Amino acid sequence: MKITVIGAGYVGLVTAACFADLGNEVLCVEKVSSKLEKLCRGISPIYEPGLTEMLQKNIKEGRIHFTDRIEEGVSFADTIFLCVGTPQGDDGKADLSQVEEASRQIAQHMTDYKLIIEKSTVPVNTHQWVKKTVKRYIKNPDIPFDVASNPEFLREGSAIYDFMNPDRIVVGVESERAKKIMEELYRPFTEKGFPLLITTPAAAELIKHASNSFLAMKISYINMIADLCEKVGADINEVADGMGYDKRIGRAFLNAGIGYGGSCFHPEELAFYKQGRWSRSVNL
Ligand SMILES: NC(=O)c1ccc[n+]([C@@H]2O[C@H](COP(=O)([O-])OP(=O)(O)OC[C@H]3O[C@@H](n4cnc5c(N)ncnc54)[C@H](O)[C@@H]3O)[C@@H](O)[C@H]2O)c1
Repeated sequence: MKITVIGAGYVGLVTAACFADLGNEVLCVEKVSSKLEKLCRGISPIYEPGLTEMLQKNIKEGRIHFTDRIEEGVSFADTIFLCVGTPQGDDGKADLSQVEEASRQIAQHMTDYKLIIEKSTVPVNTHQWVKKTVKRYIKNPDIPFDVASNPEFLREGSAIYDFMNPDRIVVGVESERAKKIMEELYRPFTEKGFPLLITTPAAAELIKHASNSFLAMKISYINMIADLCEKVGADINEVADGMGYDKRIGRAFLNAGIGYGGSCFHPEELAFYKQGRWSRSVNL
């Protein structure tokens, strides 16, 4: 399949490289010229085990290309991944200006059907807002399009492995056409037995936040138990092991320590789980 990926950061570059390695033709759009210049030479601007090798192999075999021209990206493929940043804004909310800019640029250059896929971590119901943005800027209102949600769960440091070996793939779609494209795209994964969960876009968007919050809650919870252990003279590792053998609880994310952080955390979640002792030790 042909795929366009907008934004060559952690998520976009790993998505682009992995889909190319699976045999797709990928065009990656990156607006920062210093990054683009490196990428065109097969140098990854970030360090991720295996990424440079994967990039160089797929550049050599002609499956991945880079550009800063979004119009080229829009005409290249019907399937367009939005992998732009959604940092915390000054008001504490997710800053969606990069999502808005990319959606507007896609709309302005669309001449036929496009499936726009949110891979960025966005507030629930952002797909509705993306749809409105596209409708506002599209030149011909008769051109059909879909917006889907396909949240990413990779961890920095094991991004390629995580992308290629997902616990699950979550896809939120609203049309049969979008569903078929996503099923086709992820066939190499489903053929290997990785679960593909098809939901509505709102559910997919929420699954990302609900999963992150739940993991943060586990870390916060075990840290509170660690405080209690100090008071009563118990060993937190013994307590965590004892809890973790219970299959309903599980041992993962029950390591007391300095907390969690990461680009996918929005302040409401942080405030709610402030017992997590904020740090960047566990990137969610
Ligand atoms: N980094 C992670 O571990 C991780 C994991 C899961 C999900 N996410 C989410 O994925 C999204 C992307 O994260 P990231 O870490 O890759 O961000 P990033 O900031 O590293 O990368 C975003 C890239 O998009 C580019 N960009 C922005 N607007 C553009 C445009 N209009 N045209 C072309 N390029 C454009 C930027 O220049 C940048 O290189 C965020 O929403 C983040 O929360 C991140």
